[in-house]
Order: sequence, then structure tokens, then C-alpha cells
Amino acid sequence: MITPQDLFTQRRKFMALGIGGLVSPLLIDKLMANTLYGKPLDYLKDTNTSLKLTKESDATSYNNFYEFGFGKDDPKAKSGNFNPTSWELSIEGEVQNPIKIKLEDLLKEVRLQERIYQLRCVEAWSMVIPWIGFELRELVERVKPTKKARFIKFTSLYDPKIFPMQGPLFSGIDFPYVEGLRLDEAQNPLTLLAVGMYGKPLLPQNGAPIRLVVPWKYGFKYIKSIAKIEFTSTQPLSTWEKQNPREYGFYANVDPLISHPRWSQASERVIGERGRKPTLYLNGYEREVGYLYEGMDRSKLY
Ligand code: MTE
Repeated sequence: MITPQDLFTQRRKFMALGIGGLVSPLLIDKLMANTLYGKPLDYLKDTNTSLKLTKESDATSYNNFYEFGFGKDDPKAKSGNFNPTSWELSIEGEVQNPIKIKLEDLLKEVRLQERIYQLRCVEAWSMVIPWIGFELRELVERVKPTKKARFIKFTSLYDPKIFPMQGPLFSGIDFPYVEGLRLDEAQNPLTLLAVGMYGKPLLPQNGAPIRLVVPWKYGFKYIKSIAKIEFTSTQPLSTWEKQNPREYGFYANVDPLISHPRWSQASERVIGERGRKPTLYLNGYEREVGYLYEGMDRSKLY
């Protein structure tokens, strides 16, 4: 892993010696320029840099955020009034140190990084997104789960003034949106709380100001605009599992061999490209997270 600090030190060394080259100055400038809320980002070099990034304009206009409507273009078109400043997060439940904290204060304490991950939606399309965020395990360590804690339940903001589908516009979905992870899934280093994409803070349609990113699971686990994080002893009932348990489970692990009841998951449409590509088990992250599911029946992890 190369951190901006390493690059900075190296660059100073090169400049002092009057040489350059080992690390491209252009790359260094790009990394040094990338700060968020005034913080430099660490760059992880080993997460799938072979993947071709989705165009930013596609990732910010083709969205699922049902609080704004069911169409892919509703989140961008209808989120103009959503201005998530002075955001407060509540972290509670089975923890020794529950906190209510302003997002900007939390971000002063964590290590922001950029990670390029592929996002695979249960609807069989995929994108490759450069996220900015921090490892969820940093937060877990801070609040210190009790011995009873086995899961984490995440809840999105509930505010019908902002989200038309939470109001009288009947949607059929039981809001606020809820998702969950097993504690060991949450502690895997791949699991992020993202606050940015493409070097910028998250836009409303992408779940501003903070959302979950779990790259080996289907996109519906990536809960947006999180207001509450609760540690629990029992498995939380997530929104889609509650809605339709036959089609959407708690685990939502990407698996090309386990079809959705209404379509195959063997391949995926790559947004912005022509054609499809084969879907990989755990979305290509088996080496990093396969151990979490050893001995479990794959057919039950949809
Ligand atoms: N979070 C909330 N609160 N509401 C939603 O409707 N949709 C999910 C997930 N997070 C959703 C949500 C689904 S189905 C997907 S595929 C991803 O967000 C899409 O993220 P994106 O629009 O940034 O690509």
C-alpha cells in the first residue's frame, strides 16, 4: 500500500536530489490534490486496479434510491432538495461506548482511503466505482461491541419532507430502509463506509453523505444516507428480505450459480459497455472474504 505520506516523502527526496521518475510526478500531484473535507486520502493499490472505471456521469445518473422513486433517473431528478449538511450519526445498541457524532467530527478521526471496487446489482448489471471512505472496522473498534453483539443494523434517514416515497406517495416499501451485516462481515477490511466517489463527496442520488459499501454482496446491501448504526444480538430484518424473502435474503452474496427466482445471475451487463461478462463468485473477492462462509450452504446465502 502506498500512502500519500510515502509519496510525499519520496517526492521531497527526489526533488532534493534533482531527480524524478521512480514515481511519476503526475501521479503524485493527482494523489496530493485528492483531499476530502481537508484530509488527504490513502490509496490502496491492490484492489482490482485492472477494472475499467465506469463513467462518473453513468454512476451518478443511473441509480436505485427508492425513497425518491422507482425509476433509475428519479434519484438524480428528485433529490434537488436533499442537502445533507450537519449530519449526525447515532451509534448505539450492544456497545460499550455509544455515540452520537457529527459526520464532520467522525471524519477527523478516521483514515480516508480510495478503493476501486466493482458494484454488482442483484438486477444483473455492474459498475466499477472509485469510492472514498473508511473501513467500518475503525468505527467498530471505537465503540467497542459488547459480548452480545453479533450483527450490525443500519438505518437510513427517515424524512418524508426530503423523500417523497416516504410520504403520502405510497410506495409499498416499509421505510426507513434497513440493512444488516454479521459483525465479522462488518469487520472485514473490504467493508467501507463511503463518503465520496470519483474524488468528490457523495451526491444525494448516491446516498450522501454516508453509505455502506460491501463489494462481495449485491448492491441492495449498500444502504444509503445512513442515520443510525445499531449493534444487535439477533439478525436484523433488512428491507428487501422483509419485502420479499423468497427473492432477497439477508446475505445477498454475489453468486453466479444461485439464480434469482426470476432471472439468472450467471452474467452481468456492464454499464457503459457493450455486452455482458461472466459474474464471479463473491463478485471476484473470494480470496478476501471466502473464509466468512466456510461450511455454509451457498444456496442459502442469496
Ligand atoms: N439505500 C436506500 N436507502 N434506498 C435504496 O433504495 N437502493 C439499493 C442501494 N442502497 C437503496 C439503497 C440498491 S437496490 C442499489 S443497487 C444501490 O443502492 C445502488 O447504488 P447507486 O445508485 O449508487 O449505484
